[in-house]
This record gives sequence, C-alpha cells and structure tokens, in this order.
Amino acid sequence: MLDTTALNQQRNFFDGHAEIWLFGYGSLIWKADFAYLERRPAFITGWERRFWQGSHDHRGTLEAPGRVATLIPAEGAVCHGMAYRITPEVLAPLDVREKNGYLREKVPLTFTDVSSETPEQSEGLIYLASEDNPAFLGEATLDEIALQIANAHGPSGPNREYLVNLAAALRELGAEDAHIFALEYQLSRV
Ligand code: SIN
Repeated sequence: MLDTTALNQQRNFFDGHAEIWLFGYGSLIWKADFAYLERRPAFITGWERRFWQGSHDHRGTLEAPGRVATLIPAEGAVCHGMAYRITPEVLAPLDVREKNGYLREKVPLTFTDVSSETPEQSEGLIYLASEDNPAFLGEATLDEIALQIANAHGPSGPNREYLVNLAAALRELGAEDAHIFALEYQLSRV
C-alpha cells in the first residue's frame, strides 16, 4: 500500500515556525479530527477541486477504491476551503491520515472572513495528490464518478458520506464549486 508518510516528514517548508496555517479543501474541511488553535475560511488560487484521487485506505479498499478530492492546476481558478492554525506536532498524524498519495505543498492563501480592502494573506500548507501519484485515478464522467462513489466503502465509512459532507460544508461556506455540486446531484440519482 502506498505510504507518503516518510516522504512528507522531509518536506519541512515551515521549519522553525511555531505555528502553521493548514488549508483543507476536502475532508479536512468537514472532518477536523486534530487539534487546532483557530480556523478561518480561506481560498487558494490556481487550483480546482476534483474527485480524481483514489482512496484505498479511507473510503474504499485496494480491490474497490473510492474517489476523494484532490487539486488540479487551473489558471485563474479559485478553490475555497478552511484554514486551520496548528502547531507543528499536528503534522505527524496528518501525514498518516493523508498517506495515500498526498504530499505537503506550500501555497499562498487568502482569508475570506475579513472585509477590508487589502486582502489578508498568508503562506499555507496543503496536502496535494498530484497526477503522478500511484493512487491517482484521473478524469471520468460525472456519471462514472458518482457510481464509483455510491458503491465504495472503506475503513472510514461510505464514500458517499465524504462527498455529501463536503458539498454541505461548501454550501455552508457560501462557496461555489460546480464540479462538487454537479457530482452531489448525480450521486442523489444513483
Ligand atoms: C484535504 O482535505 O485538504 C485533503 C484531502 C482530504 O483529506 O480529503
């Protein structure tokens, strides 16, 4: 089974920092099972959320993988999510949770809970599953993705729950995401 834990422990973009902003765009939005000091809605640019990453460990199995969110580079795109201010020791359990192909990356993020004219920004950390990771499944039609999600189950629960909870969390944030809402609709018809 794929395991990026050791690789991630070498990816110390925030070495020496007492606090780090972690940006969640998938299950990290609605399943914050880690300690954080504060959380704030935020967005990153140049990335689009897609259900193109395979889940063999949480929402599926090796034989029947589920599909979970990752980010695809897309010029001008805006991806909304949730930023968490964490201390560095929280990264170790996160590396384990995200071990099926996700790597730590550093990105600029913008907070959306401020109404000043100068946007408030910070460097942040994301877990990114890029297309060259072995668990990457890639593009498929909305029908195919919804069907796969409807049928997949893993140790963390039904794959359906991941998508439904993500769509609900994005709605609560007032965030636009055509791919996610179209998939949610498709899933409701399977
Ligand atoms: C994230 O939520 O930011 C990463 C992908 C996931 O854990 O679902």
